[in-house]
Amino acid sequence: MNKSSVVVAFGGVSPEHEVSVLTGMQALSALKDSDYQTVPLYISKSGRWFTGDVLRDLENYENLQTLVSSATPCVFTHLDDGRPVLKTLPSGFFARSEEIPVYAVLTAFHGAGGENGSFQGVCETYNIPYTGSGVMASSIGMDKVNAKNLCGAAGIPVVEGIDFTEHQWVENREKIIARIQQLGGSAIIKPVHLGSSIGVEIVKSEEEIIRAVETAFRYDAHLLAEQAVSPLMEINCSVMGSPDDCRASVCERPLGKQELLSFEDKYQGDDAAKGMASADRIIPADIEESLAESIRNTAITVFKKLRCSGLARLDFLMNRDTNEYFFNEINTIPGSFSFYLWKESGMSFNNLLDTLIKIAIDQYQEKNGRVQSYETNLLSQKAVKGLKGLKGSK
Ligand SMILES: Nc1ncnc2c1ncn2[C@@H]1O[C@H](COP(=O)(O)OP(=O)(O)O)[C@@H](O)[C@H]1O
Ligand SMILES: [Mg+2]
Repeated sequence: MNKSSVVVAFGGVSPEHEVSVLTGMQALSALKDSDYQTVPLYISKSGRWFTGDVLRDLENYENLQTLVSSATPCVFTHLDDGRPVLKTLPSGFFARSEEIPVYAVLTAFHGAGGENGSFQGVCETYNIPYTGSGVMASSIGMDKVNAKNLCGAAGIPVVEGIDFTEHQWVENREKIIARIQQLGGSAIIKPVHLGSSIGVEIVKSEEEIIRAVETAFRYDAHLLAEQAVSPLMEINCSVMGSPDDCRASVCERPLGKQELLSFEDKYQGDDAAKGMASADRIIPADIEESLAESIRNTAITVFKKLRCSGLARLDFLMNRDTNEYFFNEINTIPGSFSFYLWKESGMSFNNLLDTLIKIAIDQYQEKNGRVQSYETNLLSQKAVKGLKGLKGSK
């Protein structure tokens, strides 16, 4: 029996490109003995799409130039019968293009276009089932200001802060500095759309603020300045399912060597090849069960509020003295799919990926079961007559 093809999509034009390659490799390897046949889809740092077996081995990523020159360019397209396929575009006179019907896409991107709804929009356009959140939840999840505003409006506690664009900074620098200092104590400066702690800094003095803001503007045109939670304890929790039926994993407490959990802490430790799964952490988090339960419930509320799907990791900042906690951010495609949190609940990595694919198929069937366009062609002769009245109305 032919196995259905699951396209494992990773890489992308994102500062988290390498982290995504690790997550992609983990997924390809976990699905090796599954009911699916996997097809790698690697998006290069310049945004080109490739497939081929050469993309299955982490060692080949040491030289990205060599890698892409030995991989095969590919695109999504439709067959005449409407089925979506991944079509290879091999070079060479005798090379034959292959058309692989796509059962589902497993999105393993981190950051930017792969996680912010853009790639999800491509899948929607080709009507291909894909794992994880849809276009809207993905783009809100990638925008820390919008995610915070939506949660704040729903009564979920968020840290006090201000956001500003580069244009506003140039026009009103002094005022913005004063407002950041009014947040009291130390503040955190961070890019609105990035992840992996890139461009995040803790500041106090005017000089530190200017330096951190200018660094962060190298990555993003929109920044957030927040009151620094101190003494800080970070607690994360993953939620899986649909907005109507989801559950939370155990909580984890990630441990950073420095004051902030940095990119190095997360991905450049001794066990870097394991990606996010290698970062130091305590699972389950060493906090009171009632507190963990309250954080888990809040995580579910946020997941539902943002209409997420598949799986997400929700990160909270907690004041260690008061146990007061705040929703910090949501990662709609968390590093290593947060499998280490689900493992604790008895779910294997393969099982987790399988569940994600099943949710994607359910949502696809639900969407495709509804009316999406009308049979009547409004531009057909008869209909056009009826539309004449609209002429000049716009
Ligand atoms: N308001 C805050 N108070 C204290 N520490 C913070 C605050 N915001 C962020 N941090 C620290 O910075 C790290 C990265 O910030 P975060 O908002 O999670 O962005 P990223 O998307 O880059 O992970 C957090 O893991 C935490 O250690
Ligand atoms: Mg974070």
